[in-house]
Amino acid sequence: MKSILITGGAGFIGSHVVRLFVTKYPEYKIVNLDALTYAGNLENLKDIDHSPNYYFEKVNILDAEAITEVFIKHAITDVIHLAAESHVDRSIISPLDFVYTNIIGTVNLLNTARHQWKADYSSHLFYHISTDEVYGALGDTGLFTETTPYHPNSPYSASKASSDHFVRAYAETYHMKTVVSNCSNNYGPFHFPEKLIPLFINNIITKKPLPVYGDGLYTRDWLFVKDHALAIDLIFHQGKADETYNIGGFNEWRNIDLVKLLCTLMDEKLGRVKGESEALITYVKDRPGHDRRYAIDASKINKELGWKPTVTFEEGLSQTIDWYLENTEWLNNITSGAYAKYYESMYTNR
Ligand code: NAD
Ligand code: TYD
Repeated sequence: MKSILITGGAGFIGSHVVRLFVTKYPEYKIVNLDALTYAGNLENLKDIDHSPNYYFEKVNILDAEAITEVFIKHAITDVIHLAAESHVDRSIISPLDFVYTNIIGTVNLLNTARHQWKADYSSHLFYHISTDEVYGALGDTGLFTETTPYHPNSPYSASKASSDHFVRAYAETYHMKTVVSNCSNNYGPFHFPEKLIPLFINNIITKKPLPVYGDGLYTRDWLFVKDHALAIDLIFHQGKADETYNIGGFNEWRNIDLVKLLCTLMDEKLGRVKGESEALITYVKDRPGHDRRYAIDASKINKELGWKPTVTFEEGLSQTIDWYLENTEWLNNITSGAYAKYYESMYTNR
């Protein structure tokens, strides 16, 4: 029987992965290991937390001893590793937090897996979830493929790149079975409102300025989070050992165009006059080291595993806005606490 450790399961993407695995595979034991940092929220899982195959362990991946105890207690057979510090702007303010969790935390997990699984590495998988940001920035053309050289530009992407290298090194050195996937920007329900889409949804609801960095012509490739979770399911079960898979939405948007679309949809849904939300757009000082463009070539996962996004951007964005409008309590609980202080220090005087 599989007993899968999902790290970071109380976060944005992790909660969707936990929900998918708990409901789709009742025969698996799913152990969510999460330190519940500012980004972790068990409310994200309240619909499934009574499921008989779901377990939660509040553990920090910097605590090697506690990780070992969880491996032994639950006889962990496989790992899907999502726990991370994930916000670029926070990495610019506190790079060391990213070094600790994303690099040292990942190596702690690898070490535990290496020791606990040493009898037979071939029957255990360490699946590391990473980002397209490790490849750096693209110009006006071109796409990131699995063989694009790593060129991280932010402390966040540098820490993720380093953790990806450690996973590969453990596969080479110790012959552990691993797989890595590098995904583009996700959006959807339970997204912490420090990232572009949920932050702007919240600011439109509360009629606050929409802080667009620099000239607003930065480009991202957006994927609905549930489609990322489906890709992770497919790679976990059918991906080839020690391979990398790029996952993307085939869906590039310049920030300013995306923000205008969001404003239009929200004016309609909130019954506001057309143009009311767009008037909130405020250009602010740019993010230092801001990557101009990310875009993923997801043809390998498409050809080899048959994956493609199931939701169009317009549908996904509309569903996401509806979710935030229906879950104002979730949003208010977050935006009223320590987050309020972060927001003030991040966006005042920019
Ligand atoms: P998130 O910030 O929403 O969630 C991270 C989770 O990890 C939280 O529940 C947090 O409590 C937990 N965590 C953080 N530090 C921890 C520690 N030291 N020990 C244990 N748990 C800890 O992040 P997310 O957006 O859901 O991203 C999940 C993963 O996917 C990350 O590895 C990220 O790099 C990767 N990724 C994210 C995106 C995106 O668009 N959000 C895109 C590609 C890849
Ligand atoms: P973000 O959601 O932080 O994701 P990432 O930096 O990992 O791509 O940002 C997405 C884009 O939106 C990025 O180009 C930065 C920009 N952005 C703003 O213009 N204003 C904001 O307040 C935020 C949070 C992001």
